[in-house]
Amino acid sequence: MSNISIIGLGGMARAIGARAVESGHTVEVIGRDAVKAKEVAAALGATAGTFGATPAGELVILAVPHAGGVPVVAQYGEALADKVIVDISNTFAGPDDTVLVTPEGSSGAQEIAEAAPASAHVVKAFNTVFGHVLAKGGPLDVLVAGDDAGAKASVTAFVESLGLRPLDAVAWRWRTGWRAPACC
Ligand SMILES: NC(=O)c1ccc[n+]([C@@H]2O[C@H](COP(=O)([O-])OP(=O)(O)OC[C@H]3O[C@@H](n4cnc5c(N)ncnc54)[C@H](OP(=O)(O)O)[C@@H]3O)[C@@H](O)[C@H]2O)c1
Repeated sequence: MSNISIIGLGGMARAIGARAVESGHTVEVIGRDAVKAKEVAAALGATAGTFGATPAGELVILAVPHAGGVPVVAQYGEALADKVIVDISNTFAGPDDTVLVTPEGSSGAQEIAEAAPASAHVVKAFNTVFGHVLAKGGPLDVLVAGDDAGAKASVTAFVESLGLRPLDAVAWRWRTGWRAPACC
């Protein structure tokens, strides 16, 4: 089992954090509100980390809205060196979540990767799973995408350890002919 850090204290942070603790991982939750971080940590059976300090986990799950992702990663700077950053964000906006905010030819994960230290690797995962569904338990499919094989293998193993079925997004897309929207 491994050390996992989660930046963000909302629904997805709690859903992933709860499953990770249940599955035997050591989990650190981190938020900009230190009091809330301690409350969430206590509720999950996790520890509370310090926002902006080097995360304890090898995997750092970035569980903040897309708009906050780049500023948070930029603020962490070299504290995220060598980490595997898991970007779970969806880049939708607007009243019905129908507007893609990433420009043509880019993606949320790409923007995060550009803001992260060169030695960090960004892997996209969990963005296609609803938090309230994840929180109910049971098996679900989790698409995993990334351009570093080792980082992708770490996230794939983590997803599997939670009792979920990881699917390599590229292989899955090739098999099914599915065309991804430019959200990921
Ligand atoms: N909800 C879902 O079902 C779902 C499914 C798949 C993917 N996602 C993605 O998961 C991510 C988190 O979603 P969520 O539903 O967990 O959101 P949420 O419940 O609104 O929680 C967001 C968390 O991010 C923190 N945050 C927001 N802006 C921040 C900033 N600039 N710096 C630091 N922390 C910041 C908030 O801090 P405070 O506690 O201080 O407000 C809060 O703890 C999003 O990117 C979303 O697209 C969500």
